Amino acid sequence: MPEAHRTNQIAADLNNPENLDFSLHIPVMLNEIRALAASVQHLRLLIDCTLGAGGHTEALLETYPELRCIGIDADPEACARSSARLSRYGDRLAVVNSYYDEALAALASPEVSGSEGILGDRAAHFLDINGKVSASFILFDLGISTYQLTGSGRGFSFTADEPLDMRFSSQAALSASDIIAKYSEQQLADLIYTYGEERYSRRIARAIVAARRTERIHRAARLAEIIAESVPPAYRYGRLHPATRTFQALRIAVNDELGRAERAIRSAIGLLERDGICAVISFHSLEDRIVKHIFAEMARGERFSLEWKKPKEPTEEEIRRNPPSRSAKLRVIRARSKPARQGGRKRGNETDDQDREVET
Ligand SMILES: C[S@@+](CC[C@H](N)C(=O)[O-])C[C@H]1O[C@@H](n2cnc3c(N)ncnc32)[C@H](O)[C@@H]1O
Repeated sequence: MPEAHRTNQIAADLNNPENLDFSLHIPVMLNEIRALAASVQHLRLLIDCTLGAGGHTEALLETYPELRCIGIDADPEACARSSARLSRYGDRLAVVNSYYDEALAALASPEVSGSEGILGDRAAHFLDINGKVSASFILFDLGISTYQLTGSGRGFSFTADEPLDMRFSSQAALSASDIIAKYSEQQLADLIYTYGEERYSRRIARAIVAARRTERIHRAARLAEIIAESVPPAYRYGRLHPATRTFQALRIAVNDELGRAERAIRSAIGLLERDGICAVISFHSLEDRIVKHIFAEMARGERFSLEWKKPKEPTEEEIRRNPPSRSAKLRVIRARSKPARQGGRKRGNETDDQDREVET
């Protein structure tokens, strides 16, 4: 759908609350996120890097009347819908439509306080007394929302007969169908293996290349069919739909999910104020590995500590209530109130700015 039509469609949907079905997204590990928020001494600024339907943000804005929030999402539709849904919080919430790595870099830049900065005229509401962004709580809830899967019409789900697009933002250079049309068999196999950890990546790539000789593969359901026909019957009728991993791989590639997550998490840690926390909920091992490594690296320095050694997972009760939460892993890093003493003495020349720098 052309961008202008899409914007009109969003506006039309927003006039009809029945269309706000994306609020069906149930925020994952909300109890754990609430408990973390309660553990921060002065909860002043939340940066929700994956605003989505706004579930986590809403819960925290509701509980903490003094809290302000910068909510980021790459998907303009998610931003429009959550802005409308959370409009009752007025100036306490700034919604930023951007990739999180780019938004966090802009929030860390000296230009942030100007009206040309990413927060525009509202910047003063969100800056600390030094005119900088210093966050008490930074949250990443990676992946996609229920709305994107079931209602966005962008082919994220292999069960839907929708255009094979998968872009969170129209800024992304290639759609999933572009990748399917342009990549060589070897590139497709590597992509499906690396980002999908799919053991039948070569067969699937071969089948895609054979099919595209006679047709343009531009519908999600058609791609799912080609994949299902290419794998052994035992796998085809197994517990997981045979297209699950290939669809995950395409989505990661289209949106550069791993590269953006790595850059963003590193920037986020640099924006934490003392006692502030950065929490990341990931949904597959590729993401979790990145979070684990960055946090372990940071926690080797004096300024940050891991909240727990092992990630937390949803309770059985939550998984029963909300099955998409089943693969979630929550890792948390905290900026120490005082840097850990090494050799028993705090360095005399440390400043607040240095405290916020990222260890490398
Ligand atoms: C799982 S949903 C978040 C749901 C949200 N926590 C809630 O409770 O409603 C993830 C959101 O992150 C967004 N997203 C994914 N990758 C992104 C990126 N690189 N930059 C910004 N937003 C991104 C998606 O568009 C999606 O809306």
